[in-house]
Amino acid sequence: MLGMSKLRVAVVGAGAAGLCAARHILARPGVYAPPVVYELTENVGGTWCYEERVGCYGNGHPIPSSMYKNLRTNLPKEVMMFPDFPFDDQLPSFLPHQEVQRYLERYCQSHQVTPHIKFSTVVEEVKPVTLETEGAGPKTAWEVTSSDKEGLQKMERFDSVFVCSGHYSDPCLPDIPGMEHFKGTVMHSHSYRFPEPYSGQSIVVLGAGASGLDISMELAGVNAQVILSHGKPPFTFPLPPGLRQAPPLTRVNEDGTFCFQDGSSTRAQVLLLCTGYNYTFSYLRGEALGLDVRKELVSPLYRFIMPPAFPSLFIIGVCKLILPFPHFHCQVQFALKVLEGSAPLPSRNQMEEEVREQLEAKRRLGVPSKHLLRIQNEQWGYCQDLARDGHFAPLPAVTRSLYEEVWRSRSVHPQNYRKANYRLASDTQWELSD
Ligand SMILES: Cc1cc2nc3c(=O)[nH]c(=O)nc-3n(C[C@H](O)[C@H](O)[C@H](O)COP(=O)(O)OP(=O)(O)OC[C@H]3O[C@@H](n4cnc5c(N)ncnc54)[C@H](O)[C@@H]3O)c2cc1C
Ligand SMILES: NC(=O)c1ccc[n+]([C@@H]2O[C@H](COP(=O)([O-])OP(=O)(O)OC[C@H]3O[C@@H](n4cnc5c(N)ncnc54)[C@H](OP(=O)(O)O)[C@@H]3O)[C@@H](O)[C@H]2O)c1
Repeated sequence: MLGMSKLRVAVVGAGAAGLCAARHILARPGVYAPPVVYELTENVGGTWCYEERVGCYGNGHPIPSSMYKNLRTNLPKEVMMFPDFPFDDQLPSFLPHQEVQRYLERYCQSHQVTPHIKFSTVVEEVKPVTLETEGAGPKTAWEVTSSDKEGLQKMERFDSVFVCSGHYSDPCLPDIPGMEHFKGTVMHSHSYRFPEPYSGQSIVVLGAGASGLDISMELAGVNAQVILSHGKPPFTFPLPPGLRQAPPLTRVNEDGTFCFQDGSSTRAQVLLLCTGYNYTFSYLRGEALGLDVRKELVSPLYRFIMPPAFPSLFIIGVCKLILPFPHFHCQVQFALKVLEGSAPLPSRNQMEEEVREQLEAKRRLGVPSKHLLRIQNEQWGYCQDLARDGHFAPLPAVTRSLYEEVWRSRSVHPQNYRKANYRLASDTQWELSD
């Protein structure tokens, strides 16, 4: 432990990651003072708190949630849950977003996090300062500057900060040559809410991640004529009528038509960019933290969590292609053990070197920068190592095996896979249920 007094921790964001951090901090009252959780909206839940409005709130802050009206989870509740907090037994495996929001509200209430959240309060700056301590030499503290609904600014000091502000809010907008020639509607999935306004329209959807594929199918369901333009190998599963695939969009011609990589072209009324999101931490100064924060990559982060130069700043959930809630559960518990000193860290140089080697090894395998934080297959060993080094229970083997089953089933039939229901029979076995 850093000293004899209780550790003070700030948490930025009251989405799933922030609630998880606060819950585990509150579970160790002998070590930690209650956390201060800053949340820019009036609600907990982050992404899962559906907001029909798009753009900005009245106070000028951008609306962070990218949730759309008909979204259902793409992971079954049996693996999506925090490992120590199951969803309601009566619910099906794949849930509408409202049920996830209810679940997070229940998680928050059950762990008595609410009294510690400062709602409608935006964190504007998080900066490290060096304090001289009596006898123990210099130590790093964190100054968190926030501003509340009335615009009142406040600075508070902490021993540690958990950065839990998410990374699915700032749309990644690709440069498409000739865009000025397109006179139709251009939007990003961040601002997509429901398909009805697009009924009967011709639409090019760019990008076939979870958003592109799911939204294309929704749009085809309201009689839109949809072209899903993407750079993956062509999908071989059945697509609904009205939805066809095209290679990536390369430019917009002078006559306003879209031109694809194979030379074909088409005219459309709407271009819907499902091209993912940028990392942005407006309140952190990367340089001062020894961090390179780019749109597609944040590094170096030791164990995908902390800048080696400041291992009392924890960025939770930066990785992609993960099981988010279980992943947060592991990262948070490990981070707290680091803070308490019971999970010792190597030297700053060693941590930097380890991250550099890790990223280099991936680059040598041809992984582009924008995919370096995708850790789908690595996530199991990663979480297991955090559990070992943080002295907490690892994720049960059934989590991986059901996740992989659902991934397989989704890739075979993305329209139908959500019809299945699962049951966890043991820590190692799942089974289909009615
Ligand atoms: C469309 C969509 C569908 C998804 N579907 C699934 C799914 O089916 N299953 C699944 O497991 N995951 C899904 N995810 C992933 C999802 O992002 C995670 O499940 C999880 O919600 C991320 O939680 P988080 O706390 O990291 O971030 P967020 O949920 O984004 O929460 C961050 C919080 O921080 C607040 N905040 C941001 N900046 C500040 C600031 N400066 N000051 C104060 N507060 C701030 C925000 O208001 C927000 O409340 C989906 C994501 C998206 C975008
Ligand atoms: N529950 C659900 O059903 C659901 C629905 C939507 C979203 N989500 C979740 O939300 C998160 C974000 O998903 P997302 O799909 O919005 O983002 P994403 O996963 O980052 O996917 C964006 C996709 O766009 C592609 N892309 C980017 N620029 C492109 C270009 N110029 N031309 C062609 N393709 C381009 C990317 O390809 P590259 O890989 O080559 O960069 C990638 O496949 C994920 O966690 C996802 O699981 C869940």
